[in-house]
Amino acid sequence: MESIQTNALNSKYINSLLRPEENPFMQEMQNFEEIMMMYSCAIREVKTKFEVLNDDFSVRYKRNPIEFIQSRIKKPVSIAKKLASKGCPVTCASILNNLDDVAGIRVICPFIDDIYMVAEKLISQDDITLIEAKDYISHPKPNGYRSLHVIVEIPVFFADHTRNMRVEVQIRTIAMDFWASLDHQLRYKKDIPNVDMISARLKKCADVISATDLEMQSIKNSIYGQRYIPEL
Ligand code: GTP
Ligand code: MG
Repeated sequence: MESIQTNALNSKYINSLLRPEENPFMQEMQNFEEIMMMYSCAIREVKTKFEVLNDDFSVRYKRNPIEFIQSRIKKPVSIAKKLASKGCPVTCASILNNLDDVAGIRVICPFIDDIYMVAEKLISQDDITLIEAKDYISHPKPNGYRSLHVIVEIPVFFADHTRNMRVEVQIRTIAMDFWASLDHQLRYKKDIPNVDMISARLKKCADVISATDLEMQSIKNSIYGQRYIPEL
């Protein structure tokens, strides 16, 4: 009899600990889950826009300007590290206010002009607001990294509210993506011997890859004629 009472008391205590309204930690956990759900919905919204664009092009012009699309939500540890490195509070509210890249989409295109075309088509849609664009294709990073980065805001309609959510979109060719993923693997390895020589070799690969991308673009132009490369 006693043990039944003790168990009942224990489970009442545990339940009260788990109630968000009585435990700030549980409240923050619940907020975090909600925010991650919101970012994942924002990714779906933007991804669908690219998929629609690709489908329309493939029917209309018998060609896909997008090879494939990847997406990711930033991991909790990376979110916390980034907030701390920016000197921002490591809280749920701070995530929405201070980070632009919790939701990330990577769009891989066959040709350089496809990159600018799909970016332009996205940005010109009525519900999309361009927050920032970084053109690492016309201005590559010193290590040879090339890609077009855009941060956009999109309204997402939830059950009882609408919120503008930020999504970071990286758009690059297959060749740029090949280079960036190897660069990423190699850069995150610790204790690389002759790191300067390795960096120089990677930079050389980036230049070769860039020349190939330009030549492939030129061959495509010779076949299909010049398509537009709009200003961002
Ligand atoms: P952070 O967002 O704090 O990194 O600074 P930032 O906004 O100035 O970064 P940027 O827009 O230049 O790059 C953001 C993302 O692009 C990174 O998280 C990577 O995914 C990718 N990126 C940028 N530079 C490189 C690079 O040199 N190599 C590779 N592999 N990826 C890169
Ligand atoms: Mg960034």
